[in-house]
Amino acid sequence: MFSSVSFVFSTLFVVTLAQSTSKLPTSSILSAPGLPSWHSHDYTCSGPPDVYVVRPSKGKGLGVFTLHDLEIGDIVMREAPILKIDPPDYVRGTGYPMAEVTKFVRREFETLSAAAQAEVMSLTYHATAMEEATMDKLGLIFRTNAYNTDEQIGLFPRIARINHSCRPNTSYYWSKKLNKRVVYASRKIKRGEEFSVSYIGLLSTHSERQKRLDRYGFKCTCEACAAAHAEKQVSDKRRVKIHKGFTAFEPQLTLDVPTSKSDRRKARKDAHESSQLARLVEKEGLADYYAKAYRIAAISHARIEDWQPATVFANKGYMLKHMEDPESPWTAELFSLTSSFIQSWESELKNGSAKKVSS
Ligand SMILES: *[C@@H]1O[C@H](CO)[C@@H](O)[C@H](O)[C@H]1NC(C)=O
Ligand SMILES: *[C@@H]1O[C@H](CO)[C@@H](O)[C@H](O)[C@H]1NC(C)=O
Ligand SMILES: *[C@@H]1O[C@H](CO)[C@@H](O)[C@H](O)[C@H]1NC(C)=O
Repeated sequence: MFSSVSFVFSTLFVVTLAQSTSKLPTSSILSAPGLPSWHSHDYTCSGPPDVYVVRPSKGKGLGVFTLHDLEIGDIVMREAPILKIDPPDYVRGTGYPMAEVTKFVRREFETLSAAAQAEVMSLTYHATAMEEATMDKLGLIFRTNAYNTDEQIGLFPRIARINHSCRPNTSYYWSKKLNKRVVYASRKIKRGEEFSVSYIGLLSTHSERQKRLDRYGFKCTCEACAAAHAEKQVSDKRRVKIHKGFTAFEPQLTLDVPTSKSDRRKARKDAHESSQLARLVEKEGLADYYAKAYRIAAISHARIEDWQPATVFANKGYMLKHMEDPESPWTAELFSLTSSFIQSWESELKNGSAKKVSS
């Protein structure tokens, strides 16, 4: 668990070796009014009292389950890395040299207490028979379970117990200020349900996702992957479409108002498509991508000066980003977009009523 695909979320270590790290700088969540605040005295933080329990998950080894109904944004865990390393130089094509990673990890490991060492060694890992025979188990555990922090790579034994889903119900980010990885509910979770996060980028088909997950040594049986064939085809189509939408919109996102007739026509079409994109992401239930889609839809509607949807989308994105991290640059950006769109909307309404009065 190692890097981030884009925007909001990180993915697992092994899979994203070839991708650049674009994790956003994040900071305090403790400063958010209304959020519970608690500190732990050691490297773990089990969240608010008794939020979760680790127990066997049907057919999947251990899993982490909620003990309460949780609302979107509720904190599940905050955990400082039990150990972290500065990654060695990245080798294009092959990724981080495992021998060196293992050496660094071993060095940190030796400084831990016996209890902490035991906790690390209790984590599961996946390796081929060849790797098993030739590699240090500690390195394999790290490879399977580590997440990237901003510049480093860390091991979070509690968070590592959360299983994967291709439609996860929690998200997470690295808080530099807290030196903790924060996991929060990204969907409403009912008491007794298992927590899930995503180890990989989710905007690909079922079979492509499974190919990436092979490296973790399991066949995904999440809700999305276990669905009936027809339903899976619909889901695959949606995910591919969402990916295409993001790829098409992101590089050309601008607030510049189009001036030529043809540009205006294109902008109207874009705005329409951006609404569809947001709906598609919602339909597919990919909470990790909601804010990204809302931002695109907000900006696309601002370009055609359609202020009501622009404001509503910007505000929805802002609320999600604020819930995740009130101090991130994305939160600040969506705040300023929302405020400026509201002003335009207000003046549009005033102009409209003024016109009505005069006519
Ligand atoms: C779920 O997590 C447990 C504990 O980390 C692991 O043993 C198991 O293989 C995981 N199952 C899946 C399907 O990810
Ligand atoms: C949370 O994730 C678990 C495990 O994938 C799943 O069974 C459950 O339906 C999810 N809940 C929600 C609300 O998405
Ligand atoms: C409202 O009218 C004022 C003055 O005519 C104009 O400057 C402003 O751009 C208008 N705002 C909108 C949103 O139409």
